[in-house]
Amino acid sequence: MQAKEFLKVPVNSVTNDRYPFSPFPIGWFWVEFSENVKRGQLYSKQWLGETIVYWRDTNDQVCVADATCPHLGANLSPKRGGRLKNGLLVCPFHGFSYDATGACVRTHTGPPTQRLSLNTYRTRETGGVIYAWWHPNRMEPDWMIPNFDDGEWSRLIYSSQEIQTHPQETAENGVDLTHLPHVHSYSDVQSLGPLEIEGPVLKNEFTLTRRLGPTDKLCITLKVSAVVKMWGLGVSTIEPSFEEAGLYVRQFALCTPIDGTKVNFVMALQMKDIGRPNVLAPGLGLIPKRVLNAWFLRIFFGVYQKDISQDFEIWENKKYLTYPRLSPDESSIVRYRRYCQQFYLDSFEDL
Ligand code: FES
Ligand SMILES: [Fe+2]
Repeated sequence: MQAKEFLKVPVNSVTNDRYPFSPFPIGWFWVEFSENVKRGQLYSKQWLGETIVYWRDTNDQVCVADATCPHLGANLSPKRGGRLKNGLLVCPFHGFSYDATGACVRTHTGPPTQRLSLNTYRTRETGGVIYAWWHPNRMEPDWMIPNFDDGEWSRLIYSSQEIQTHPQETAENGVDLTHLPHVHSYSDVQSLGPLEIEGPVLKNEFTLTRRLGPTDKLCITLKVSAVVKMWGLGVSTIEPSFEEAGLYVRQFALCTPIDGTKVNFVMALQMKDIGRPNVLAPGLGLIPKRVLNAWFLRIFFGVYQKDISQDFEIWENKKYLTYPRLSPDESSIVRYRRYCQQFYLDSFEDL
């Protein structure tokens, strides 16, 4: 590759020593799974360098906001005394109350006499996940993540892990096909064409062969088509399918910066009912569908967790190279890194 292709590096106002760009790219980021945000309960966490609070009001509207009361700066998180009363967030200091739009609706003297509001984040709840939009200048979103309530997908099964890396590094895995045989032992990895990039959406299609089972003799071999899609650097899906067996899986890789050095890497998986289980192994079709699907959901999730955990060690210990020495079949990485530039502020610096 040409060194000049990486001469321009985007920066945000916040940077750290490890990467030449902000630890907090612009975009949509996972906050929590819907089922974990119950009405009447207040939650708090570190999210993109901020302490946030979030809750669901009596109309199921979710609010995600900075945990700082705009009156005199009290910390609104539940462990500092913030609490919910009738769907309103009540500050522990002077008792101001905020609704799920973030607006102050009550002060110590009654209704507010001036407009007072929490710093809120635009949210999107879809497919059992709550996402929120982050922009360093608090600009409104100019693109959306899609509706994930589509199709006949099962419930999500998920786990998360804190790791020291950056969402740009984890998402780069989705275009780095040459690591798949080496790290994950896939074979016959074949790209089905150049990356498709349309604004904030990136798509990469490829095929591979995957052996699944405890030993070489006791395993099934799947010829898999895979589609990777990204909506920014925080939200990726990987959809492996094995058409012959009517087997469709959707894996989510949700990477949310915590504090500028660590990310929450969330793995979630769902699948459709297996169409022709006997293709996988004769007799499987005799097992009740519900049992079979639940069984495979667990198996595939275990495989997904194992596969991704093979990347953790590398992500945590690698250096970000602005001028990587790529071979000609790795030009997707150059295109991916150009795609990434849109998720940082429009200021550029020559190295
Ligand atoms: S600081 Fe929150 S009500 Fe005063
Ligand atoms: Fe990987």
